[in-house]
Amino acid sequence: MSELDRRAFLRFVAGSPLLFSSACGADRDPWRGPIGAGPAADSGGDLVAAAADAINVFDFEPVAKRNLSAAHYTFLSMGIQDEFTLRANREAFGMFQLRPRRLVDVRDLDTSTEILGTELSCPIALAPASAQRAFNPEGELSVARAARRQDHLQILSTGTSTPIEEVVKARGAPIWFQLYTPDVWLVTRHQLREAEAAGCPVVVLTVDQIGLGRNRDALHRYHRLDNPACQPCHDSFSASVQRSLYDLGIDPRDVIQDAMILDWDTVDRIRDGTSMKLVIKGVLTAEDAQLSVEHGVDGIVVSNHGGRAEDSGLATIEVLPEIAAAVGGRIPILVDSGFRRGTDVFKALALGASAVCVGRPYLWGLAAFGQEGVEAVLAILRRELETIMTEMGTRDLKSITPDRVRRAAAPECSSDS
Ligand code: FNR
Repeated sequence: MSELDRRAFLRFVAGSPLLFSSACGADRDPWRGPIGAGPAADSGGDLVAAAADAINVFDFEPVAKRNLSAAHYTFLSMGIQDEFTLRANREAFGMFQLRPRRLVDVRDLDTSTEILGTELSCPIALAPASAQRAFNPEGELSVARAARRQDHLQILSTGTSTPIEEVVKARGAPIWFQLYTPDVWLVTRHQLREAEAAGCPVVVLTVDQIGLGRNRDALHRYHRLDNPACQPCHDSFSASVQRSLYDLGIDPRDVIQDAMILDWDTVDRIRDGTSMKLVIKGVLTAEDAQLSVEHGVDGIVVSNHGGRAEDSGLATIEVLPEIAAAVGGRIPILVDSGFRRGTDVFKALALGASAVCVGRPYLWGLAAFGQEGVEAVLAILRRELETIMTEMGTRDLKSITPDRVRRAAAPECSSDS
């Protein structure tokens, strides 16, 4: 090596990020913050002033935090108890590494797919989240308009703070309806009929969080405070279940608490009692995935509710392979919890998912900049997915196969970017 080459080489090494960031915990580049939290989360830098200025989805979170009351921000961001699951959802992406293939013509990239009769131009959907007017006065309507502009599937929560018909109209295309239901058939049937009448082709039955949030330590601290300004938001929570109950002359307080405990008979009854396709959300084991198939369920969402259901420490990307193996391609698998990067989405698609749902990222966008924020979040995620597909040499979703991912040798020493 000549002296000139040697100096150029040393300059390159000195400028390389490798010199500053080992992959392991304490030695990580401090600018990056905690594993997978993204550069914005801990940078202490300026907040983005407009949605268009955001570089990644993490940029929206500090703006959302600034805009929201402490109680609403806590509701949005919290996990359960010690938040092991919340952290695991992000950290587990580091357990999987990508195997790129080169010299593939990827000029005509295609991210489209079809799930249960719904055409998707991109396999990134909006997870159901309740009470979105707590984050922006237009709530679910802003989200629907953004989903329409960016062409993404929206799943509407039972706890919507906007009537379902209005959301469907704003979306301008069928949305999926997420169902929380007490085990009171009259009520369930009423909810199903409402969703059918609104034209929803798919009902997503959420089967976790049946403890009704008794272990949400962070939120309970705020519930102790008397905060009348906040009351309208709480009135809107689970409004549709409550409306259904009142319509039927039942006092919600009499039924909801214990009747949230469902079983496979309830699943059978819902499957037989609706014309909509039935998806179960909250599956985390091969056993329950297998039972879902046996009970004629049309699809599942592998989800731990974004670390809000139980503090198991079990990340969804970690359990996806065992679930994909149990399902064996018989029904589509969606997955959520902790997805923040196109790379995360790519890993899930390679490990057997047909689509990924995101929750907090679009809620951060909503709280930060309303409809524009949600649009920007969706555009960033889509662009990141396209970028990694290009790098990986995968022209379409079919070519994102399990051999594109390998399990990392030392998971605790990896980061996801
Ligand atoms: C949720 N989630 C949720 N899920 C559900 O089935 N019905 C609901 O009403 C809600 N409500 C809700 C509110 C808020 C504020 C959050 C953050 C989440 C869970 C949601 O659908 C999804 O599973 C997670 O949000 C996915 O994790 P990430 O993307 O937020 O990490």
